[in-house]
Amino acid sequence: MGPVLGIEASCDETAAAVIDGDGHILAEMVLSQLAEHEPYGGVVPEIAARAHLRYLPDLVRRAMANANVSYKELGGVAATSGPGLIGGLIVGSQFGKGIAIAHDLPFVAVNHLEAHALTARLPGLVDDGAPFPYLLFLLSGGHSQCIAVMDLGQYRRLGGTVDDAVGEAFDKVAKLLGVGWPGGPALERIAAEGDPDRFPFPRPMLRRPGCDLSLSGLKTAVAQAVARLGDGPLERAQRADVAASFQQAIVDVLADRAVHAMTMMREQFADADLIVTAGGVASNKRVRAALSDAAGTCGFRLVAPPIRLCSDNAVMVAWAGLERLRRDLRDDVSAATLPRWPL
Ligand code: KG4
Ligand code: ZN
Repeated sequence: MGPVLGIEASCDETAAAVIDGDGHILAEMVLSQLAEHEPYGGVVPEIAARAHLRYLPDLVRRAMANANVSYKELGGVAATSGPGLIGGLIVGSQFGKGIAIAHDLPFVAVNHLEAHALTARLPGLVDDGAPFPYLLFLLSGGHSQCIAVMDLGQYRRLGGTVDDAVGEAFDKVAKLLGVGWPGGPALERIAAEGDPDRFPFPRPMLRRPGCDLSLSGLKTAVAQAVARLGDGPLERAQRADVAASFQQAIVDVLADRAVHAMTMMREQFADADLIVTAGGVASNKRVRAALSDAAGTCGFRLVAPPIRLCSDNAVMVAWAGLERLRRDLRDDVSAATLPRWPL
């Protein structure tokens, strides 16, 4: 199999990557659109789509040049085709289809969630790649789910958030505290200065059966605590204490839900012993440490890909494409772009 070009433009990261036929990374480029969206305190879909259109041609050209691969040597082109923001999805997938048509290459319409799910199978993260089945704990800005990854294309949702995604909760609390955007990393930074025991925030769903989670009550409790601290802007130490207490509540909930998810996984797959985490929140150090401890108590091993491969990137898209092409799964260039596309 020749190298695979991957393209990702489903949210606010424009990314291109080339991997060889064994999955080794030849080139990876990510352009974050932080500066474009910062004045609005969140991702503006129309701005994102236009920025993808502006960045993508040069980014792909540079990725191909860095990989030292010509288009005709490629084994295929893979582009995220859902779920995500429709404008960016159209830009990325049409761009990929154009390259595939021009050079007569197979095209793969990649599901962004499948790409996160399969990242742990990249060679080198777990020996030659995490073997099926394993448990995926996907923690991003749009999705928070526990999924049994049984085989390529075979996923069983064990549970997930019933309201906000974990990243979304981080972003909303960060906005409330005025610590900057994107919220997750900013909140983690200021939390490091605070006292995690200062505010006894609720731990929703703790010890409930299953592995669903719910975060809107926690978010409300944080908003009420902030309101009780007074009308004016909070002092830095107060913000740090709220941030640390909120982060600790999230960490406790995630650790508990992970234990339940691993128990469910064992009931369904007796040999399962890997828990893989992915999504932007998986780059949080406290979250990673808590999941690692939880894995230890359940006799599981935590696989946490390097941070750059946890958040949105095109290596995972190229890899998902390669896994599909190896099984002769390719898509027609008329494949739809799907803003909603559950696994
Ligand atoms: O997976 P991702 O890059 O994009 C998608 O949502 O698909 O995840 C982004 C989310 C954002 O909500 C961001 O605030 C959160 O992940 N995040 C973090 C951290 N880094 C990113 N949350 C907590 N701690 C972090 N260090
Ligand atoms: Zn993502």
